[in-house]
Amino acid sequence: KKTENQMLVIFGASGDLTARKLIPALFNLYLANHLPKNFAVLGVSRSNLSDESFRDRVVYESDYLKERMKNLGKEEIKGFADKLYYEDLGKSYDTDYKSLRKRVEELKAAHDTTGNIIYYLSTPPTLYETIAHNLAEAGMNTQNNGWKRLIVEKPFGYSSETAKNLNKGLHQYFTEPQIYRIDHYLGKETVQNLLVTRFANSIFEPLWNRNYIQHVEITNAESVGVEKRGGYYDKSGALRDMFQNHLLQIVSLVVMEPPIGAEAEEIRNEKVKALKSLRVMKDDKTLFENTIRAQYVESVVNGKKVKGYREEDDVDPNSTTETYAAIKFYVDNWRWHGVPFYVRTAKRMPTKVTEVVIHFKEPHHQIFKEPSMHSKDNKLIIRIQPDEGILIKFGVKVPGQGFKVERANLDFYYSSLAETYVMEAYERLLLDAMQGDATLYARADEVEAAWEFVDPILNYWQKGKDVRMYGYAAGVWGPENADDLFDGKGFWRNPGE
Ligand code: BG6
Repeated sequence: KKTENQMLVIFGASGDLTARKLIPALFNLYLANHLPKNFAVLGVSRSNLSDESFRDRVVYESDYLKERMKNLGKEEIKGFADKLYYEDLGKSYDTDYKSLRKRVEELKAAHDTTGNIIYYLSTPPTLYETIAHNLAEAGMNTQNNGWKRLIVEKPFGYSSETAKNLNKGLHQYFTEPQIYRIDHYLGKETVQNLLVTRFANSIFEPLWNRNYIQHVEITNAESVGVEKRGGYYDKSGALRDMFQNHLLQIVSLVVMEPPIGAEAEEIRNEKVKALKSLRVMKDDKTLFENTIRAQYVESVVNGKKVKGYREEDDVDPNSTTETYAAIKFYVDNWRWHGVPFYVRTAKRMPTKVTEVVIHFKEPHHQIFKEPSMHSKDNKLIIRIQPDEGILIKFGVKVPGQGFKVERANLDFYYSSLAETYVMEAYERLLLDAMQGDATLYARADEVEAAWEFVDPILNYWQKGKDVRMYGYAAGVWGPENADDLFDGKGFWRNPGE
């Protein structure tokens, strides 16, 4: 695909995401020759920086680029840094963008970028609509001299209502095809590979339904706590921070029907249908039985004392924000009728891992009568991260007399494709947006459908003291009660076991 000449304007350029993800992604694209010939980046923010100090901050003195720059020549690094500029907006993002426009025009002329511009919103979400409005006021959203695109970071809304309002707000100034809602999990190779596993093979899809699948399990675990983001996290929680976006995106790819083709709209239409078919939990009894929340409490991990969530900086000591969420739900459609989905996400788990496990049913008729002969453990495990790959567990006969069955593994690791360079999520997604490909970005109705499912759970949990909040020691796989979701018929599979 072709990447046309263009400019990237990053709002929130002095923030963490710009230095940690966006600039390193652009730097890698630069080194791989993926940036267009005429290109410039304008960082915009409220900090008082010059072009030079911005370059120092995000390139020359950046911890995030240190490793990458080690073996590179000065000229090569300068070639990239010289494409970066900075514009101080002063006190507020809510200001006249006339001088910003002037700066953009200057850079456009200096770098001959044409009028193609991506605006990347990496500010606090309360500013998204304000920025879109001010861009429009200054005439910077018009497409008559080159396209304009808007990339919007998460969180996209705080609830169903706020997400809808935000969509409405942005649509006043930008059309839906101009808006790219980023979900960096869609930039992960293994998440995209869900589509290939299902729809480019003939050996999985015939089994991908209620006739053969017993249940589906998705685990997303992080070993870190809330780190320095206590202020943000305490208002968000695991459900908003991870489940509504990243995990429901994975769910939609597991659940969706085969699309007609691989175009953005074809895939996104099916994803929306999938999200709309998740059974919304309406009454308190259902919510009580199918959702579990918990917080990590102080404990000792590898000989080191680890703070409990409520003791973290910027977290309310009486906080009822969950750092662990486990949800069981059903999908109301022909394919998935009666198949339970178990999805959990948490901080301060024993390790960092994300995986999807498809548990298959036992054979309908057992000819080997002894239980030890049953190969009852057919599983397909999709390792999203780390050790990216796919594992199939099945039964084989133990050599010797009789029919003793033992479990065997067929295991594929992405790392075995050694010659392939795997792009980092932000790298891939930025390049897609630069090329106008929205396949891996969330559409307005997708985000709204995901919120529709999450809203009742959030509302129920907000009821506070009536709703159980478990504690779990940092470094374990969540509260013991989490297995209650399986009604005595199973338990969570802890990755690696
Ligand atoms: C972010 C969340 O969206 O995803 C963070 O805000 C979380 O809390 C992160 O740590 C996890 O992303 P990854 O790619 O490291 O799994």
